[in-house]
Amino acid sequence: MISHARAPGKIILLGEHFVVHGNPALAAALDRGVEAEASADSEDLIVSKDLGLECPIWSPSGQLEPVAAALQKLMRDRSLRGVKVSLKSSIPVSAGLGSSAASSVAALAAVANYFGVTVSHDTLYNLGMVSERLVHGNPSGVDVYVAVQGGMVYFKGRDRRVLSLGQRYPVMVACTGVERNTGELVSRVGAFKDRSPSLYRTLAKASEKLVEDCRKALLKGNAGVIPASMNFHQQALKTMGVSSPQLDGLVREARLAGFAGAKLTGAGGGGCIVAWPDTTGFEAAFSRFHSKHPNSFTSYIPSEGVTTWQTPS
Ligand code: MEV
Repeated sequence: MISHARAPGKIILLGEHFVVHGNPALAAALDRGVEAEASADSEDLIVSKDLGLECPIWSPSGQLEPVAAALQKLMRDRSLRGVKVSLKSSIPVSAGLGSSAASSVAALAAVANYFGVTVSHDTLYNLGMVSERLVHGNPSGVDVYVAVQGGMVYFKGRDRRVLSLGQRYPVMVACTGVERNTGELVSRVGAFKDRSPSLYRTLAKASEKLVEDCRKALLKGNAGVIPASMNFHQQALKTMGVSSPQLDGLVREARLAGFAGAKLTGAGGGGCIVAWPDTTGFEAAFSRFHSKHPNSFTSYIPSEGVTTWQTPS
């Protein structure tokens, strides 16, 4: 028997970086992510098809070490042995789309399912955080929460909720192709906060108000307030030094193509943008943008959180 799990990647619609310092964020699962396959193997291995890497779970090194650390915690506590978990991603790595959180959550869910161990969403989140803390020192937890829960998420410290939306919303994601290091960018914002505390406070306060307004509006089925809030956040993130000329260029092009809101998503410094349509519709704006950037893609909010299933071996 083979156990499978799929966990979604994510976009942060509003509030990245501020969320690390206790402010709220709105984030959403993508309808693509990471698939994990767990099967019998005496060696306890992780295999990444995308990275072309193999990593022993009990003596890990390199890029798969964070996933191994989370699996060690799951397996050691329950004396589980004899599994190989293979990962395959449909989102780019180091691009701000939550591939590391999706990898660890999918690997954990597949391995737990393989051994017939029931793990709650809370346990998956806590184990996923073991991995995320190794990826970058000071994670808010929003990526892991979205990978587990899916949907549109409000996240503020321990106040975390999936918002119940009455409809589906399309977003566009476009990537610069530039990989970046989340930890370094989180430190850059920390340094900005220390250097310009009053400006940081002003931006953080405005961000909080906009996130709260958008949360309430979305719950009433009114998404009209989202684009202007996204545009404010792009400017704030740029002020804090985490945008880049490539990100600014994609944001500009998305707006010219007809998207009403566009901003970097995730840590910035490279990675991707997310864009939200105006009221005249998504398709025309997307096809204008996509003709120049064929790697851009559409995702629908809300999308599912982690899921598991089995197939015969
Ligand atoms: C990374 O996807 C988002 C950041 O806010 C970091 C975090 O929340 O852990 C930059």
